[in-house]
Amino acid sequence: MTSPAAVLEAVRSVVGDAPRIGLHEPEISGPEREHVLAALDSGYVSSVGAYVDRFERELADYTGAASAVAVANGTAALHVALVLAGVRPGDLVIVPALSFIATANAVAHAGAAPWFVDSEAGTMGMSPDAVRAALEGPEGGRIRAIVPMHTLGHPVDIAGILAVAAEHGVPVVEDAAESLGSFVGDTHTGRFGALGVLSFNGNKTVTTGGGGAILTDDPELGRRAKHLTTTAKLPHRWEFEHDEIAWNYRMPNLNAALGVAQLSKLDRYLRAKRRLAAAYAAAFADVDGADIVLEPPGTRSNYWLVALRLAHPDRARRDAILAALVDDGVQARPMWNLLSEQRMYRDAPRGPLGTATALVDSIVCLPSSPALGER
Ligand SMILES: Cc1ncc(COP(=O)(O)O)c(C=O)c1O
Repeated sequence: MTSPAAVLEAVRSVVGDAPRIGLHEPEISGPEREHVLAALDSGYVSSVGAYVDRFERELADYTGAASAVAVANGTAALHVALVLAGVRPGDLVIVPALSFIATANAVAHAGAAPWFVDSEAGTMGMSPDAVRAALEGPEGGRIRAIVPMHTLGHPVDIAGILAVAAEHGVPVVEDAAESLGSFVGDTHTGRFGALGVLSFNGNKTVTTGGGGAILTDDPELGRRAKHLTTTAKLPHRWEFEHDEIAWNYRMPNLNAALGVAQLSKLDRYLRAKRRLAAAYAAAFADVDGADIVLEPPGTRSNYWLVALRLAHPDRARRDAILAALVDDGVQARPMWNLLSEQRMYRDAPRGPLGTATALVDSIVCLPSSPALGER
């Protein structure tokens, strides 16, 4: 049995003895000030400006995507990506029950309903077998898209999911909100499906304060993503002509300036986070009944949040460990409560959720700021 005191001691041996250790804190330094001041000085603080174009170009370069469209947040990115994938009111969309609320909410914003499926223990992400069971079940014909999510930055079994999706002709939209800097082989997460989305919320590996992006390798989908997230305005020097009902989901130039600065430090962040994950793994090597979740074989994880896993799922023990850490000033967190248990989605269709439930009862997310890996 893993004792809360032993976990606290192991975590403290890695993060040091500062009175308060955050879960994931951004590092704001020289380049951020320089670029945000340049955006202020340019007078372009809002929805157009050179930094938006530059951030989009640099994101496309880094991920290898043909097109990256910067938007207000990851939820908005997912909403529009689903619409572009063909999701319409009344449709069903397969999502992992174990995810942040935005994954299901974006489906609801598109007028569709989520179909919740189980996770795999190794990746903590969507199970291809569960996807197959949903597609081959009685409601399978109503399923219009599949949304795998790369949990805490660890790549999901995307090859398995793509194979089932292709058999049934259903598009994949990757929720890569947590996985900037995570790769399967040489390919960045978010580039396997028809579209993928990133988040730059304040707690992510790279932050723009708030923000997101839509990635796609299809130039026409990229053009449509830009058009639909910028009110569908037709280019003209003064006329306000819009050719469809769209959204004002653009990322402001000020936020993009922050993003350009943060992106320039991404490789350093990733190195620091790998070092931190390795330090945690070493610290827990001698702790009974718990270990650190490592990147799946054949992938490179960004280790967005380092996950400690209890060998035996036990909600009470998990909570005792969280209490010991939080009481000592260490901001640890559980996984999310299953989406299928949130009151809005209690009646949504679902498959068996045994592995996802066990993951909720056994995972504690540990402080993972890049600065901790640079100590
Ligand atoms: C898995 C997942 N999907 C979607 C989002 C939504 O992103 P945002 O907060 O930028 O709207 C987040 C995180 O915030 C997330 O963790």
